[in-house]
Parts: sequence; structure tokens; C-alpha cells
Amino acid sequence: MSKSVFHSNNVAQTYEIAKEKIAPLLKKGDILILDGELGAGKTTFTRGFVEHFGVNPSHVSSPTFTLVNVYNGNDFPIYHVDFYRILEGNDVFFDELMEIQGKGITLIEWGKKFLKELKEYAEGDIFVLEFKILGENEREMVFEKYSDN
Ligand SMILES: Nc1ncnc2c1ncn2[C@@H]1O[C@H](COP(=O)(O)OP(=O)(O)O)[C@@H](O)[C@H]1O
Ligand SMILES: [Mg+2]
Repeated sequence: MSKSVFHSNNVAQTYEIAKEKIAPLLKKGDILILDGELGAGKTTFTRGFVEHFGVNPSHVSSPTFTLVNVYNGNDFPIYHVDFYRILEGNDVFFDELMEIQGKGITLIEWGKKFLKELKEYAEGDIFVLEFKILGENEREMVFEKYSDN
């Protein structure tokens, strides 16, 4: 699959890209890695993304300290994970996450750290969304499929 590039000029556009353009491309068992520096918009994007699956966007919070947030969608859960503080791929948390990820869709902030390990366990496909900060309210998002399972 080729890359898709999205351009956002404000929070509402990032939200719309997430909900209308990207969320419909994923299915149960898929993993979406959200990569980009702090403040790039990964958590903001997640709010739009989950709404496509019937989750109230106000339930979304940054999982930096909880490690994983679970949102109940209409048909399956959305797991919202942050690998920022996860040090090794064989971490207990990582093993537990790999046991459940096939039951829903998993969004992983900073997930590029363990791309190879994720590929081993993914029930579905793995996608990567790379965020770039272009200006105070301007963002670029590059969406690409990493692997087919
Ligand atoms: N176009 C945009 N898309 C997403 N966030 C934006 C945009 N413009 C400004 N922002 C701001 O950038 C910040 C993004 O924060 P957040 O989504 O928590 O980033 P991350 O999870 O990548 O650290 C928010 O304060 C948001 O209001
Ligand atoms: Mg975040």
C-alpha cells in the first residue's frame, strides 16, 4: 500500500481526518502506531478515531501513566496504549497486551519502539501514522501500512 499524506490546519481537522478518513480503514485485530513528538496530536487524533467506533471522545485521555486505556466501542474495545515508558519488548505489560489485542483495535503512542515484536503478535494488519509539527496549529500525518497478517 502506498503512503497517504494528510494535512491539518487545526484540531477539528485532525479530528475529522481520524474519524472520516483513517478509522474506516481499520478492522478488529489491527494495530495503529501513532508516532511523533510530544504535542504532535496523537491523543487528539485518538479522540476522533474512537468516535467512528461509537466511543464518546471525552472518554479519551492520555495513557502515559495508566499504560492502557480501554474504550468500549459498539462492536469491540479500542485499546489506547502508550509505550513511552515501556523499556523492553518482553515487559509483562507487553505480554498482557499481546494477549488481548486481537479482541479489538489497538492504538499505540510511541509504538515504533517495538515494531518487530508487534508484527510477531498482531492478529491483523499493522499501520503507522507519523505526525509532524509544521507550525503552531499545522500538522502533517503520513499513513502507511507496515504489515499484512
Ligand atoms: N492541527 C492540530 N492537530 C492536533 N493538535 C493540534 C493541532 N493544532 C494544535 N494542536 C494542539 O497540539 C496539542 C496536541 O496534544 P496531544 O494530542 O496531547 O499530542 P500528543 O499525544 O502527540 O503528545 C494539543 O494541545 C492541541 O490543541
Ligand atoms: Mg499523547
